[in-house]
Amino acid sequence: MPKVALDMSVSLDGFASGPDDDLSRIHAWIGEADAQEAVDEFLAAGAVLAGRRTFDKGQESWGDDPPFPMPVFVLTHEKREPLTKGASTFTFVSDGIEEALRQARAAAGDEDVVVMGGTSIARQYLSAGLVDELRLHLVPTLLGLGIPLFSPVGGPSAEWRRTKVVEADGVTHLWFEAIR
Ligand SMILES: NC(=O)c1ccc[n+]([C@@H]2O[C@H](COP(=O)([O-])OP(=O)(O)OC[C@H]3O[C@@H](n4cnc5c(N)ncnc54)[C@H](OP(=O)(O)O)[C@@H]3O)[C@@H](O)[C@H]2O)c1
Repeated sequence: MPKVALDMSVSLDGFASGPDDDLSRIHAWIGEADAQEAVDEFLAAGAVLAGRRTFDKGQESWGDDPPFPMPVFVLTHEKREPLTKGASTFTFVSDGIEEALRQARAAAGDEDVVVMGGTSIARQYLSAGLVDELRLHLVPTLLGLGIPLFSPVGGPSAEWRRTKVVEADGVTHLWFEAIR
């Protein structure tokens, strides 16, 4: 049964990005040699859900050939035409998180759907109890300021069972499944 996984990096003090949306520290692990397993798991998703700010912020670093072999569904309140960039397709969904998930599941077929952030959509999917698995990349830094990943989150997503830990260079990868 395909899962909905939230796959994000987080600092020790719970931030998903530093001041001014800075991801340089929190995503530094992705460039390390032993990052491949976690990156490959992300790349195996059948579809990805992203918030519009994450889409906008990614434009510069992703360049003309964004790193998404799977369809990406971008939540926004604005109606926008789909966009193809390199091998990546971005479909903009303005009917809310459940409709975006419905479209992502349909596109993903037997594969998992990954919520890649940012924090606004992550918290909404968590609060609605729609996340089956947390894949957290815990980065040993105290950012002090930035956008908190989990605050606020309410609803049924309170309890998790840790299913796997992988120690890597500059990051600890943690997997949890939702206890329902
Ligand atoms: N640590 C990580 O792994 C990681 C991963 C990804 C992103 N990030 C960081 O997270 C930050 C972005 O997070 P964020 O919380 O500011 O923004 P976000 O979640 O990426 O996007 C927020 C936008 O999504 C749209 N949206 C949200 N909920 C919606 C809904 N229910 N219906 C329709 N549209 C909806 C709205 O777009 P409109 O304004 O267009 O309506 C909203 O402004 C950035 O700093 C980014 O770099 C970190």
